[in-house]
Amino acid sequence: MNVLVTGGAGFIGSHTCVELLENGHDVIIVDNFSNSKQICVERIEQIAGKKVQLYSIDIRDRAALSRVFEENSVDCVIHFAGYKAVGESVKLPLKYYQNNITGTITLLEVMEQYGCRMMVFSSSATVYGPENPIPYVETMKTNEATNPYGWTKVMIEQILRDLSAAQPAWSIALLRYFNPIGAHPSGLIGEDPQGIPNNLVPYIAKVATGELESLGVFGNDYDTPDGTGVRDYIHVVDLAAGHVKALDYAARHKGVLEVNLGTGRGSSVLEILHAYERACGHELAYQIKPRRAGDLPAFYADTTKAKELLGWEARFTIEEMCRDSWNFVKRQMEEAE
Ligand code: NAD
Ligand code: UFG
Repeated sequence: MNVLVTGGAGFIGSHTCVELLENGHDVIIVDNFSNSKQICVERIEQIAGKKVQLYSIDIRDRAALSRVFEENSVDCVIHFAGYKAVGESVKLPLKYYQNNITGTITLLEVMEQYGCRMMVFSSSATVYGPENPIPYVETMKTNEATNPYGWTKVMIEQILRDLSAAQPAWSIALLRYFNPIGAHPSGLIGEDPQGIPNNLVPYIAKVATGELESLGVFGNDYDTPDGTGVRDYIHVVDLAAGHVKALDYAARHKGVLEVNLGTGRGSSVLEILHAYERACGHELAYQIKPRRAGDLPAFYADTTKAKELLGWEARFTIEEMCRDSWNFVKRQMEEAE
């Protein structure tokens, strides 16, 4: 298929482009590089041994986006483009609603105009909100986010369900990601946030390189085995493979599919820290800090639906996720020297 990937130069998008190319699809990337670098596109081509088409545009630029559809026969869109920093979304809600919601609506209108009615959307476990019991199952209510970023995911899911109800010709997959970490085993692409990272593994990586002194562990008094927060960490390459499976499914089914992409296993902050120590070969300093506002004690996925409907299951272990993250980070550091 001819797949247009919005945000294809980003962390999850770049790994998904590699999987798509390796599975015989053609890829058109649309990215404004607000949170990624152009070199990533060259790296995708290097890994897959195949060229992609790149449009350096903003998805909110209707005329530019229309040209992409004019110049290509797009079969499906995988939609990653958007902002994702939870804390920033609390301070700058309009920035998030503007980019995530307006961007998606513009994209959908242009798709409709060109008769392209297949979308795979990057949703998040955050749509399950603070009240649902764990593990999260797709049938649970998803109408209570805790921050503007989370609300954009809840709202976009609803927009897509409404669109499908009104226009049954659409095929839509809402992929609810748990906590993607790791990097491509080649070490060529991975997660490379600007400034001080908000997320756990990018922060640990900077402690491992010596750029940051020690990890602040946000709370050790949760009702979890070691008191620290528990999440369902998933290797980004597994997550990327899930997109190819979802694309195959969407090509065969109309309507909306909601599916979790996680491993079904929870790991604590300290477990991840210790796995990273084994990967980088030295101890990493940490300090216990107060709980972070808005954090839940623990959540992980029920993965039954992904196995049954997509025939997809995560394969990589926590050790492998940390090994591949470190391999990428080390390589970046060496290149910068
Ligand atoms: P990322 O920031 O690395 O990738 C997003 C990409 O979209 C970037 O390359 C950015 O430059 C581009 N972009 C942003 N706004 C754009 C616009 N208006 N026009 C064109 N390009 C634009 O983020 P990621 O971690 O790869 O996440 C991808 C998607 O998955 C996001 O929608 C995110 O909300 C969702 N998601 C991520 C996580 C996670 O933990 N990383 C978890 C759940 C869901
Ligand atoms: N943590 C620390 N110290 C840090 C950073 C994080 O102890 O410096 C802890 C958190 O308290 C939490 C765990 O590590 O217990 C994971 O935190 P992350 O920030 O890495 O991830 P979250 O689970 O908070 O959120 C992530 C994404 C959200 C997404 C959610 C579910 O940031 O966008 O996963 O997919 F919605």
